[in-house]
Amino acid sequence: MSIAQRAMGNRAFSLVYEKAWRPIFTRGFSLGGSSTADYDRALRAYLARPGDRRVLDIACGPGNYSRDAASGLTDEGRYVGLDFSAAMLAQASRDNRGERIAFVRGDAHRLPFADDTFDTVLCLAALYLIPDPLPVLDEMMRVCAPGGEIIVFTSARASVAALPGADLAAGLIGLRIFGRDELLSRLSALGADHREQTITGVGQYVHARKPKE
Ligand SMILES: C[S@@+](CC[C@H](N)C(=O)[O-])C[C@H]1O[C@@H](n2cnc3c(N)ncnc32)[C@H](O)[C@@H]1O
Repeated sequence: MSIAQRAMGNRAFSLVYEKAWRPIFTRGFSLGGSSTADYDRALRAYLARPGDRRVLDIACGPGNYSRDAASGLTDEGRYVGLDFSAAMLAQASRDNRGERIAFVRGDAHRLPFADDTFDTVLCLAALYLIPDPLPVLDEMMRVCAPGGEIIVFTSARASVAALPGADLAAGLIGLRIFGRDELLSRLSALGADHREQTITGVGQYVHARKPKE
């Protein structure tokens, strides 16, 4: 298990993750590019829009997007956060409980949900930690309902992350740097449409839709 993966299972790390670590890490993603923090704020506002949606947040950590993503939900709308770290989920249950919020322990590679279940499927700041990440996109598309959306935030081989040695340095702590087209190509092969990518420094936001049937 990599250093990064071990940290995710650590109780002390899960305690400081949302308030201390994630804001610093988010700013770090802006290295040499536009503000990841600005895009993050815009994403939170977008997730908070009103609607009767089922939202799945894969690798939700301590549920740091749950309040925003659940705040606008109406009717049968629900937010489900999934993670395989018991420490992160314990923190999520302490800090981010809510009427429409549920947390589930599971593996992103084998999502315990039926096909076409969710309107919004998120995977934020996690794919770069997962040793075999592209099949996770397959699972995201599988559980996404026709007409639903997929939103990913992860690393991108851009700015300083495109310099020689960057892959090696990231790999030493268990982080992967994605090629600029890697996620878009996989999503295209899976039939996703309206694919958009925003590169912010060494990070990328990808937004795609599963076609309506
Ligand atoms: C850096 S945190 C991201 C938390 C949150 N999504 C965010 O944007 O801040 C990465 C999370 O991915 C989880 N994770 C890593 N591999 C996973 C897998 N295969 N299945 C489920 N969760 C996984 C870790 O336990 C950790 O909580």
